[in-house]
Amino acid sequence: MRFDIITVLPSLLESPFAHSILQRAQKKGLAEIHVHNLRDYANNKHKSVDDYPYGGGSGMVMQIEPFALCIEKLQSERTYDDIIFMTPDGVTLNQQIANDLSTKENFIILCGHYKGIDQRIRDIYVTKEISIGDYVLSGGELPAAVLVDAVVRLIPGVLSDETSALSDSFQDGLLDAPIYTRPAEWRGHRVPDVLLSGDEAKINAWRDEQQLLRTKERRPDLLKD
Ligand code: ADE
Repeated sequence: MRFDIITVLPSLLESPFAHSILQRAQKKGLAEIHVHNLRDYANNKHKSVDDYPYGGGSGMVMQIEPFALCIEKLQSERTYDDIIFMTPDGVTLNQQIANDLSTKENFIILCGHYKGIDQRIRDIYVTKEISIGDYVLSGGELPAAVLVDAVVRLIPGVLSDETSALSDSFQDGLLDAPIYTRPAEWRGHRVPDVLLSGDEAKINAWRDEQQLLRTKERRPDLLKD
């Protein structure tokens, strides 16, 4: 799987992919993540990529030409399954969307800044618009990192224990059951006896019950379906 991320702040994306599971996925050759500086595609000596909005109003708007040049260069090198624009007015990312994307191969991700990007970029090039939640961040870089993380960990072979992505919260439509590790008692707080019983059927039944309880309490909306 390959991600090409287009941004005016490439340095912001140096760290998120250089650790832990995302780093391992790249080392294993299961994911490639390339970050492109949008300013390299600016055609003026100040390397500016934004301008005032037509019709007036506050804030600057990112121009179409630099995005178009960068996207078209990438498209001349390979085909892409989706060109994704990270934006608070997109569809809200959830596990189902991450699962669907994890079955595909190549993505371009556009990170917006300032007031936004020229609508024509969205109309002409973008195939999916994704939000990471109902709040506004300063740019699309952190949302892009969230999306890449959510998708890459689902690629078969990325997680050492392949079943662990399947047992994530949300994969079965429910939140996870509580988990514990040693010591069995800490300052008088005991791990539930059932987990120490060694009775696998009992443990599974307890976990199922806890998942349901936790979901009912915290996310009743997930139980509607
Ligand atoms: N850009 C700014 N805020 C965002 C959000 N919540 N989701 C995706 N992209 C964004």
